[in-house]
Amino acid sequence: MTTNNKQKRGVISVIGLGVVGLTTAVGFALKGHRVIGIDIDPAKVISINEGISPIYERGLSQAMKEVKIVATLDFEQVLKSDISFLCGGTPGQADGSLDLRFVQGPVGQLAQVLKSKDSYHLVVVRSTVVPGTTEAVIAPNFPDTERIGLCVNPEFLREGTAIEDFLNPSRIVIGERDDKSGDVLCQLYAGFNTHTLRTNLKTAEMIKYASNSYLATRISFINEIGNICKGLGINVYDVASGMGYDERIGHDYLRAGVGFGGFCLPKDVAALAAKAKELGYESRLLQDVLAINEEQPRKMIALLKKHVPDLKGKVIGVLGLAFKPDTDDVRKSKAIDVIEELLKEQAQVKAHDPQAMKNFAKLFPDIEYVTAEQALDSDAVLILTAWDKYNRLDYRGKIVIDGRRVMRAEEATVYEGIGWGRNGYTYTCESSDVMAKLVPVLK
Ligand code: UDX
Repeated sequence: MTTNNKQKRGVISVIGLGVVGLTTAVGFALKGHRVIGIDIDPAKVISINEGISPIYERGLSQAMKEVKIVATLDFEQVLKSDISFLCGGTPGQADGSLDLRFVQGPVGQLAQVLKSKDSYHLVVVRSTVVPGTTEAVIAPNFPDTERIGLCVNPEFLREGTAIEDFLNPSRIVIGERDDKSGDVLCQLYAGFNTHTLRTNLKTAEMIKYASNSYLATRISFINEIGNICKGLGINVYDVASGMGYDERIGHDYLRAGVGFGGFCLPKDVAALAAKAKELGYESRLLQDVLAINEEQPRKMIALLKKHVPDLKGKVIGVLGLAFKPDTDDVRKSKAIDVIEELLKEQAQVKAHDPQAMKNFAKLFPDIEYVTAEQALDSDAVLILTAWDKYNRLDYRGKIVIDGRRVMRAEEATVYEGIGWGRNGYTYTCESSDVMAKLVPVLK
């Protein structure tokens, strides 16, 4: 069944205005759609209606100046749209399973509100839910398949580049309950120049989990190689550089360091492992990916103690609190694990981050937040986030333990990378002048 290609450019509603929801709302608005954003946070709604992004996300504030998003607390506004994206967060729980409150709540409200709508409405699950969830938990709320369509449309947005990732997706994945649902969503994405894969609901969910689990596996893999390289005096960045020229391997997600953080990778790997367990399958690989990732912060402390054996009362500067550069997000940041260890050792912490100090202070109100230069004025310095700014500091005379390979820090008196040494240079033979030879092939 094909949709009417002359279909008027409909109104979209986006429910849940976190990084994914707000980026999705602004992204579709940039593509010319009228978008209603729905959230439960009044401050967020006010900020968005004033054209101010409530989150630090590169390019989002600028993009919001180019479009008009109507944000509201009023769930009934959904009735003005014909497609609704569910973008609520799905926090992980201690056993790895997901807390579905922020999905089930809006699903219940949506089912209630849509009872009073006669025309066709498409519900699109964009929240990251483990395979089988949409069918088992969400679909039963929308039994009238003639009037209500249902799709799964996972996002592959990275924080810091979310808007670019939305506008230039590597693929559009559409899981559909039926042809009409898939046709309507396909039509919405018609303006995107990329591969569109149509499949069933749970396969679309699994594509998301398998993708994130693979990215996390690459990171723990290179960290394991880095830990072996450390014992051999080999620089893992040179190894990764040599590996990456093989097109089957590539250079991405082979940056060794203190490990992967963020709201997604750790949670998604744990959730898939928990789902496997529920099915009676022991996912040893996924569990080891998590175990290696858990261990990396402790390796940072061990390296630090090699040079500062007794940390009690010592002043330790920490450069980087966000889980990655270009974001203020500290969720599951490796800085949390490292600073917890430092405080256990009764060290005095002076922390800096260009964007994330405010968020980090909600977790650690009692440590000192300083400028980058003040953080350097310490007994030793740990680098935990590869902000560009840290490549322009003066590390001479310092003790530096590097968890993210900031090249400039190699000028420190004592420099230790978690999986590499000082001379982290790989160069290609075809480079002619000296400077080219000093530019690391692997950024
Ligand atoms: C990730 C996925 O990339 C994205 O596709 C998905 O939609 C959401 O989860 P994000 O969490 O924003 O995106 O960050 P990402 O850039 O993938 O980095 C995740 C973590 O891995 C960060 O802590 C980063 O520092 C770390 N990382 C990344 C490494 O340690 N090494 C690498 O080579 C790459």
